[in-house]
Amino acid sequence: MINLEPLVPEDLKQVIEWNINSTPEFLLQWSGEFEYPLTREQLDKFYHFGEKETGRLSFKIIDVMTCQAIGIITLQIYKEISSGTIVKFLIGEESKRGKGIGQKALARMLHKGFTEFCLRKIKLYVYEFNKPAIRCYEKVGFVKERLLKGVRKVGDSYWDMFEMSIFEDEWRNRTH
Ligand SMILES: CC(C)(COP(=O)(O)OP(=O)(O)OC[C@H]1O[C@@H](n2cnc3c(N)ncnc32)[C@H](O)[C@@H]1OP(=O)(O)O)[C@@H](O)C(=O)NCCC(=O)NCCS
Repeated sequence: MINLEPLVPEDLKQVIEWNINSTPEFLLQWSGEFEYPLTREQLDKFYHFGEKETGRLSFKIIDVMTCQAIGIITLQIYKEISSGTIVKFLIGEESKRGKGIGQKALARMLHKGFTEFCLRKIKLYVYEFNKPAIRCYEKVGFVKERLLKGVRKVGDSYWDMFEMSIFEDEWRNRTH
């Protein structure tokens, strides 16, 4: 069982620790922007703690058995178009991935977005090679909308990225 709890500045130390032995590529894979090594400054700049009206809902994913944070997820809300985007989604420890936690966290996030914030559509971006993430997203109902080719140059290669989305009515049909 997992819960989503609001992310607070004290949680950022853990986020940095999860990424200490990672790589620049992995950091880019989940964050889309952070540069290796991950620093407190980069996280503070993204999360804007204390600022109002960022439209950003950031949560830690809590394992209710241990009360430990095991990951993070953010929903960026665009009120004017009743739309949201999932960003900065990470299950921190590698050993905890692939066990269904991501699907549960995402399902909670969709429920919040569609019921509490009355969104019409929620989307996300995922690199084409990130098969476990794509499977996780498809299993909660996201559908590939388009492939954005060569959006990121990493070393000598170019990374392609899928835009995936789920609409409120599709979500409701799946869950009711
Ligand atoms: C992406 C992420 C958040 C998903 O969370 P998760 O808990 O690992 O995902 P889940 O276990 O709920 O779902 C993953 C699915 O992919 C499957 N899977 C695992 N490895 C796979 C692979 N190489 N190819 C295809 N599917 C794979 C899992 O078996 C699972 O499917 P199942 O429920 O049918 O067994 C997590 O893996 C993660 O933090 N990855 C690193 C950071 C990252 O890439 N973030 C996403 C940025 S867009």
